[in-house]
Amino acid sequence: MIVYLNGAYVPKSKAAISPDDRGFLFADGVYEVFAAYEGRLFRTADHLTRLERSLKALRIEFGDVAVVEEIAQTLLERNDLCGTNAKVYLQITRGAAPRNHAFPGADTSPTIYACASTFARPVEKRRVGVSATFVPDNRWARCDIKTVALLPNAIAAQTAEERDAEEAIFVRDGALTEGSHTNVCAAVDGTMVTAPLSNYILPGITRAVIMELCADFAIPVREFPVLFEEVPKLDELFLVGTTAEVMPIIEVDGTPIGSGRPGPIAQRLGEGFDGLVAGAVEGGA
Ligand SMILES: Cc1ncc(COP(=O)(O)O)c(C=O)c1O
Repeated sequence: MIVYLNGAYVPKSKAAISPDDRGFLFADGVYEVFAAYEGRLFRTADHLTRLERSLKALRIEFGDVAVVEEIAQTLLERNDLCGTNAKVYLQITRGAAPRNHAFPGADTSPTIYACASTFARPVEKRRVGVSATFVPDNRWARCDIKTVALLPNAIAAQTAEERDAEEAIFVRDGALTEGSHTNVCAAVDGTMVTAPLSNYILPGITRAVIMELCADFAIPVREFPVLFEEVPKLDELFLVGTTAEVMPIIEVDGTPIGSGRPGPIAQRLGEGFDGLVAGAVEGGA
């Protein structure tokens, strides 16, 4: 595997990062995950805008994030991933400097790392649906920044695995915030309901795509908290995210959702998502 590190494309085994890197010492960095369908990066501009916002929130001086698209595209080509579906992971940390909590001087340059690998679209999971589990949302109050400080998310995902669930859904103050690596949407009486953007959720690119699809399909949208106590009464619940795409939840902690089968709104949105992917592959998006 060829990866990108600080300006060079090198075999992964040759990529070395300093033990002084602040990503390692303090989780002082941000990341993005892009999907690429048959060599076409999906929603690149949206990912770059979010990356820029994350860098700004952490006050990491980076310059023009447009270079990231070129890096991602080059990785797809060098790893022979243009004829398949792939994901590109990109991480930017504040760089390496002797350990000191406060930021290092301006002479410290950010560390940029990126890699690409194959991505199997979750087609079967969309067809049959998945289960989820609830966990308390004990994360910090800046979940809107895509930082590499993902320990609570990692613990939540591990809890899900131990409970034989596909995803862990965080619950804060009686409302569903988001999954460990997904946003969460519900359907109630034909309306799509999803948590409003706030400092407690990541502004997901897929969430935005799904809301655009709702507009296209005349599905009403309500950005409003989905309450924990209302879960048994929901018609549908589904995960949305770059790698989850649109994934219906059929059961949470033993409680069936709606009919206990994937519902029509998630199905319609999933088909719409496929249409956007097909458009991107043809070079439209
Ligand atoms: C915590 C969290 N929420 C939501 C998402 C979904 O975001 P996106 O659709 O941009 O992949 C992710 C994706 O990694 C995530 O980590």
